[in-house]
Amino acid sequence: MNSGRSIMLTRFSMRRRLVGKRAAGRSPSSVPRLLSLLFAGAVAPVLGGCARPVSNVEPCPASTATAPAGHSGSLTDRERWNQVFSRTDPPFETGPNAFLSRCLDRIETRGAAVDIAMGQGRNAVLLAQRGFDVTGIDISDVAIEQAHENARAAGVSIHGELADVFTYDYGEWRWDLVSLIYFNPAKSILERLKQAVKPGGYIVIEGFGVNAVGGPPQSSKYGANELLRIFSDWTILEYQDGLFDADWGAERKQRHVVRLLAQRPAE
Ligand SMILES: C[S@@+](CC[C@H](N)C(=O)[O-])C[C@H]1O[C@@H](n2cnc3c(N)ncnc32)[C@H](O)[C@@H]1O
Repeated sequence: MNSGRSIMLTRFSMRRRLVGKRAAGRSPSSVPRLLSLLFAGAVAPVLGGCARPVSNVEPCPASTATAPAGHSGSLTDRERWNQVFSRTDPPFETGPNAFLSRCLDRIETRGAAVDIAMGQGRNAVLLAQRGFDVTGIDISDVAIEQAHENARAAGVSIHGELADVFTYDYGEWRWDLVSLIYFNPAKSILERLKQAVKPGGYIVIEGFGVNAVGGPPQSSKYGANELLRIFSDWTILEYQDGLFDADWGAERKQRHVVRLLAQRPAE
């Protein structure tokens, strides 16, 4: 592992982009609705707010404002995400996340990895291909099934667990690597995730920054230097904050993305 402290910071002035810009095969007006559907339900437990899809035109009804995590008056988070993963035109790249792949090139450690909210397993499969013993957790049973199928097709095995990331027991000093790719609401459990990483282990994060239009609610997006502050007692091996090609989202275009590779100090 490169032991030097190398922080790559990309400074930029954000241009707000039209979310309604035409995405391949979708009408402009369908894009904001799609983004709301993808993210809003998942953040309800974190925000302590609406468990239903939060769109600009559909306010959170009072009756669901205190609904238990994952359960709303209509669709549960699981049902919503099952619908997403049942689509024939997935709104994300199905190949592994490029930043995670680059990080794995730098990391010599192998062992137990957990992929938080792994979806259809594109990153869990990559971790297994690179020699990790992978647990992937997700609330969607359709996603888990697809992840197992994708792992089988790739000739690797992963351990998929149907679980809620907010209540899952990550343990302490358990994982050599935690990957958190495009699930911003998990920001609220970062302190728990830090405890779960073994001394000398790693965390890899990629998600939307506060200037990304659409996607998860503002409060769950990564603020300026926020991850640097949270991981200030770890070694920051790479940090990027800028306009990058997001590989999750209807547009598949440059958006405000934050990336972190950090290593827990050895005890
Ligand atoms: C934006 S997708 C990202 C998937 C994957 N990390 C990737 O990059 O392809 C968010 C994922 O979070 C899962 N999810 C949403 N709420 C969850 C929860 N409370 N617990 C576990 N998984 C959840 C969804 O089923 C979905 O797979």
